[in-house]
Amino acid sequence: MNEVPASLKGMDDIVCPEIGLWQWLEKTARDILALYAFTEIRTPILERQEVFTRSLGETSDIVHKEMFAFEDRGGRAICLRPEGTAGVMRHLAGLGQARNQRLYYMGPMFRAENPQKGRKRQFHQLGVEALSSPSPWLDAEILELQHRLLAGWGVTDAVFRINSRGNSDDMNAIRVGLKAALNPHRDVLCADCKKRFEENILRVLDCKNPGCAEVVRSAPSMLDLLCPESRAYFDALCGALDHLGVRYVVEPRLVRGLDYYEHTIWEVTSPSLGSQDALSGGGRYGVTMGKQLLQGVGFGVGLERVILALGKSPEECRQLLPPLDLVLISMGERAMVANQSLAKSLRSRGISCVVDMSGKKMKDQFRNALEAGALRVLIRGDQELDAGVCRIKTLATQEQQDVVVEDVPAWLAR
Ligand code: HAM
Repeated sequence: MNEVPASLKGMDDIVCPEIGLWQWLEKTARDILALYAFTEIRTPILERQEVFTRSLGETSDIVHKEMFAFEDRGGRAICLRPEGTAGVMRHLAGLGQARNQRLYYMGPMFRAENPQKGRKRQFHQLGVEALSSPSPWLDAEILELQHRLLAGWGVTDAVFRINSRGNSDDMNAIRVGLKAALNPHRDVLCADCKKRFEENILRVLDCKNPGCAEVVRSAPSMLDLLCPESRAYFDALCGALDHLGVRYVVEPRLVRGLDYYEHTIWEVTSPSLGSQDALSGGGRYGVTMGKQLLQGVGFGVGLERVILALGKSPEECRQLLPPLDLVLISMGERAMVANQSLAKSLRSRGISCVVDMSGKKMKDQFRNALEAGALRVLIRGDQELDAGVCRIKTLATQEQQDVVVEDVPAWLAR
């Protein structure tokens, strides 16, 4: 038996009517990003593995176990991009011009995770990267942009959690402090965290295992382990956020699973999402590409999760699509041919329409038009052709009227 091949696990087709919501989210985001002078960058989906391994960190979950990595036919180690930041940094490092850049991207990312609600293997991120200033005001501006985006989309329950990892010296102090505090409880950590304790202790703070979470509650606040300058940076950020009216919660044990972050880190969660509750994550970072260090601030929003948080019905999604003004129904071949040229001239006038070419009975063509969500139908058969008129029916009201062919465009445009 010839079976239709299924799409790959965790990789979905996105179609009508849900596509209406996707397009609306994208358009709304583009309009908002333009207000902040961001321009779009489209990087390739396939990259060399080295673009990610160093910048995200060898021990990060993404590099360690989630990259779709393989050798191409030329023996090059390549992968499907698991996130957007590193590719943008590769581009900017190649240009040798990483100052005053404000870039955004939208597109698919790939991680070989176990799929569940809100967790896909192919998912979509809107990401922004701003490389213009070391000031905490830039961090605050990007957080405020993130706020505006979510509000623009109608996500009302987002909680912004912020923390700081300080600079690389602070990171060492944080690791030492955490090790000292967690060492007495090592035995009760899960098997993964026992390994994390040795390899990357910060990641113990991220563990969802209830036993580990209990131990983590006794861990010191990362903010208390920062040097005075890094602490002052964080305090200045909080002051800037207060000034801009951005609400946030300080979460002193928040870590992010990627190595490139320094100073500010944040996560935005939505209580409506269940276990995969992170709508977005971001922070200030330093990424080394070749000999260049690129420093910026950015975030990535998971669009599938925004869609889940919005909880729109299929009908609400459909209403976000541009309406179909008209379906042209033809009784017979002669009418169908005449309707083809009428459709062409209507489209030139900005009226969206489609000619039903099924050759089926009027009743069936009507049903097709209803299913397509058309606002009106135009009906012609030999009788209408001979009389030079079209019968136009408005589907919502069932009102019907004969209109002279030449007047149809103006009548519809009314
Ligand atoms: P991330 O936290 O790994 O950060 O991903 C950002 C967002 O992508 C998450 O908060 C989540 O909404 C979504 N996401 C991640 N994995 C999945 C998945 N398997 N299925 C569905 N959604 C997912 C980054 O990727 C950083 N590059 C963000 C960034 C940009 N930081 C600075 N600039």
